[in-house]
Amino acid sequence: MTNRVTVIGSLNVDTILEIPRLPKPGETLAMGDQSFAGGGKGSNQGIAAARAGAETYFVGKIGEDANGKFMVKSMTDSGVNVDQVTVTKEAKTGQAFILLDKNGQNSILIYGGANQVLSVKDVDNASDIIAKSDFLITQFETPIEVAEAGFKIAKKHGVVTILNPAPAREVPTSLLAISDLVTPNETECETLTGVKITDEASMIKGAEKLHEMGAKGVIITVGSKGAFYHTADGHYGFVDAFKVKAVDTTAAGDTFIGALSTQLKKDLSNLPEAIRFANRASSITVQRMGAHPSIPTLAEIEAAETADK
Ligand code: RIB
Ligand code: NA
Repeated sequence: MTNRVTVIGSLNVDTILEIPRLPKPGETLAMGDQSFAGGGKGSNQGIAAARAGAETYFVGKIGEDANGKFMVKSMTDSGVNVDQVTVTKEAKTGQAFILLDKNGQNSILIYGGANQVLSVKDVDNASDIIAKSDFLITQFETPIEVAEAGFKIAKKHGVVTILNPAPAREVPTSLLAISDLVTPNETECETLTGVKITDEASMIKGAEKLHEMGAKGVIITVGSKGAFYHTADGHYGFVDAFKVKAVDTTAAGDTFIGALSTQLKKDLSNLPEAIRFANRASSITVQRMGAHPSIPTLAEIEAAETADK
């Protein structure tokens, strides 16, 4: 059985600038190649879920422009249902400008655009899709009240909610209270809980704070190291990442969330196995350039798994 997954979130066209390093104020610096790719945290997560085998639905907003059409095509080409991706005249399709250095590290500037116009009404219009889902995923590149409205619908229908609290920001406790699985990285975990993540003890402490706020499951992603999980009933552990050479880490975290949602059981009883699969998927994403183009299919994830044996 495949999971049915709905993602509420952002669609961005990414402009990737390959730079030797960040320029200093006032400095002019020669750069390398420039390229474009579909991106946005929400849309990356949707594509990751669809390519890894979930029946995937997307709720989002684009502008009335070529970038919007490009994004919709990229989503549908991967099998994501975009019936609830609507068009606004009020803003342009979202964009991200990604400064990618030689080590595969990136710095990102975001133009929110149409993503910021996504409304509670849009989410209400998608309630049938949400109600039929196993999982509802969202992040913070669309308005927070939209996340909350979506999760409220999900909770009414027994849909498991996954909050990827990225990019880092403070979050109302009312949203955390209806988030079943919360998946911060170290920085985001500190923003949410005030606990600085340095070692296992701090990860346990951070997770326990999130449980107190309502999360049944917590995953703290630790970049190239892997991911720590902790459940409200006290199970925890660390699942190591696969060692690969990164060329572009963009969308690695998004691939992790999307792929995870294809494997998870609704009672979160298989977190370690699902995380291992998600780590495998994101290990492929970091080895390729650009967000959408780098996100693997199920066949590629399985092939990488076999090749490693
Ligand atoms: O998480 C990666 C994404 O963040 C990029 O695709 C970019 O669009 C930014 O939103
Ligand atoms: Na990538």
